[in-house]
Amino acid sequence: MLNNQGRPTSAGNAEAKEHKTFTGNRALAMEEGLIFETGRYDVTGVDLDEPEAFTPRLGGQERKAPLGLPGLSEPEAMRHYVRLSQKNYAIDSGLYPLGSCTMKHNPRLNESMARLPGFSDVHPLQPQSTVQGALELIEELARWLMVLTGTEAVSMSPKAGAHGEACGMMAIKAAIAAKGEAATRRTVLVPESAHGTNPATAALIGFEVQAVPAGADGNVHPDAVKALLGPHVAAIMLTNPNTCGLFEKDIIEIAEAIHAAGAYFYCDGANFNAIVGKARPGDLGVDAMHINLHKTFSTPHGGGGPGAGPVVLSQRLAPYAPVPFIRRDGDALRMVEHTTEATTSFGRMTAFHGQMGMFVRALAYMLSHGADGLRQASEDAVLNANYVRARLADLMSLPFGNRPCMHEALFDDEWLKGSGVTTLDFAKAMIDEGYHPMTMYFPLVVHGAMLIEPTESESLASLELFIMTLRDLAFSVRRGETERFSGAPYHAPRRRLDETKAARNPVLKWTKPLPIEV
Ligand SMILES: Cc1ncc(COP(=O)(O)O)c(C=O)c1O
Repeated sequence: MLNNQGRPTSAGNAEAKEHKTFTGNRALAMEEGLIFETGRYDVTGVDLDEPEAFTPRLGGQERKAPLGLPGLSEPEAMRHYVRLSQKNYAIDSGLYPLGSCTMKHNPRLNESMARLPGFSDVHPLQPQSTVQGALELIEELARWLMVLTGTEAVSMSPKAGAHGEACGMMAIKAAIAAKGEAATRRTVLVPESAHGTNPATAALIGFEVQAVPAGADGNVHPDAVKALLGPHVAAIMLTNPNTCGLFEKDIIEIAEAIHAAGAYFYCDGANFNAIVGKARPGDLGVDAMHINLHKTFSTPHGGGGPGAGPVVLSQRLAPYAPVPFIRRDGDALRMVEHTTEATTSFGRMTAFHGQMGMFVRALAYMLSHGADGLRQASEDAVLNANYVRARLADLMSLPFGNRPCMHEALFDDEWLKGSGVTTLDFAKAMIDEGYHPMTMYFPLVVHGAMLIEPTESESLASLELFIMTLRDLAFSVRRGETERFSGAPYHAPRRRLDETKAARNPVLKWTKPLPIEV
């Protein structure tokens, strides 16, 4: 079989699927066990002097046997970690079309700036007079964020998008309490298409969540919101552009209705990368919005951290922002750390002022792009997503019609109906083709959703190859070649896992008995 570039491929080749190697390695891709399986407990990779004899002072409680840590020589340790690193799929390895996650290239310039010793070596407990440059950088980044969003204040300390949501909702809660309405305004409206973190955040902060039904066109409709408004509503949490990849065209009318009802407008800004330099959330009536620096401003996704999710705030919410924040005193910058000074602040969310490394990267990205470059990045992200949409629209189904999208193109599984192939099968077959799958089954308002976000980082050539691959797969579906999908991935080091079992019954701990006395 030849691929679309005329190169031989083993897709569909039964022999390649069945062939097992003695080592478990495939071509030059190595199998790698856990370090506990490969290491030996009686060796160490370094030569240490025998410890001098000493009299233990632990009253018999001291350890009598080795710790049971696996020992490897230096080359074995190197190989272990290099092989593990090669198992990572990353934006540095290839296109990563994970919708809503904005897996785009992180320019290496950002990395080298973050490694400047003046930034990388600062300690959060250093006297403030010795970190004036770092405070200046945070101030400068904060200024860019406020200018780009058209807002009055920004809290830099939240560590991720969801943490930012908590920050914004706590500011809203404090503002409501200040008006003496804490007992009555207890409901937060969340559209059905929202990211799961939105209702989770609202509930965590102590609100009741009421769903706003999705419109048939993928947008939230003012009438649906107005029907739910009343003196019990504290806020709406609305994503714009939304998780269907569409701009909320009635956002101003919704914001006005929310404000007229005495409530606040929290905007999930995870998709801000689609509108930077084109629209300012503050102008749309937003009171609070988190910005995922790791999406829009190209800092690395942290795999759990460290991240940064600054929250911009309107004038109405600014007084309730958390401590610490930076204030200029004459020529010097200082951190306001306590609520004794910031008396209306809702308090403190984190030990320190945020993630310095991310701040440096984000500002480096902004300064190297400039305002025009940031706008261009948004435009290119939207252009690329629309290119994908337009080139696949004849084969794959679009739940809200073939109309322009923002930074991500959303398909559903209508086109797979009756084929015996599911969204999951299709995604697994993409892995065989060397592509990380798109976001699947999210947003929930769309059946069998496939959310593709190519980002602005991809060239036309890379987009074309991706599109041709998806077209090839789609034609396979049409031809009824279900085997290509049902057993996929055939070529990955691990085949299809029992995902339900993995989620319900995760094995998170190495349990083999170790040769140690307890
Ligand atoms: C729409 C949306 N909202 C919120 C979040 C939460 O952001 P974070 O993962 O930084 O906590 C995400 C993350 O993917 C998202 O896509």
